[in-house]
Amino acid sequence: MEKPTSTLGSNRPANLVPMMLNHLAYVTRDVAATADFYTRILGMEIASTIFDDRVPSTGEEFPYFHIFFRMGDGSTIAFFECADLPAPAKSSHPAYDTFNHCALWVENPAEVRRWHAWLQENDVPVLGPVNHKGIIESIYFHDPNGIRLELTTPLDPDWNRHAEQAQTDLTCWLATKEQAKAEGRDPAKALLEMIRESKKRYATDRC
Ligand SMILES: [Fe+2]
Repeated sequence: MEKPTSTLGSNRPANLVPMMLNHLAYVTRDVAATADFYTRILGMEIASTIFDDRVPSTGEEFPYFHIFFRMGDGSTIAFFECADLPAPAKSSHPAYDTFNHCALWVENPAEVRRWHAWLQENDVPVLGPVNHKGIIESIYFHDPNGIRLELTTPLDPDWNRHAEQAQTDLTCWLATKEQAKAEGRDPAKALLEMIRESKKRYATDRC
């Protein structure tokens, strides 16, 4: 498998980069609905399960059931159900609920549309397809836990190889924020101006 290279941190040991997603784990308060959704609706297989009365990494005494659902490449989405957990706290801003999400790769735009139809057929409210500036195309929906999921396919074969532009953008974002603070201006306003100026590039080379 190809290992990504990083230009950050010249003292780093060579090739010390995680290989791929192993699992992404969330808490569920309804493992029955979760198992039904990930197997029957999303077509994943139950890959593994664990019972324990103590968290191995921290020693915390949380009796739990842990379940993993396997995708096509062997990576998994995992859940923990503890008995009698209270509902989680609400987000302090809706941006958290929109931006925090898990995106799963599907093969091509036709598959995105097949998924869209399948989700609708199963009464799962779904947004999209959304074309993201010619880079990827995606649909969005929620699992029974309220976790926002995305099914996405690249439209640009190099969608995850724009490292140079990405580094420039990161530097620009940080510099704009720092400069606004140093000048006593509102960083949010300065960033909005920068974003609106930068967006012009999509009109010419991406959309
Ligand atoms: Fe996404």
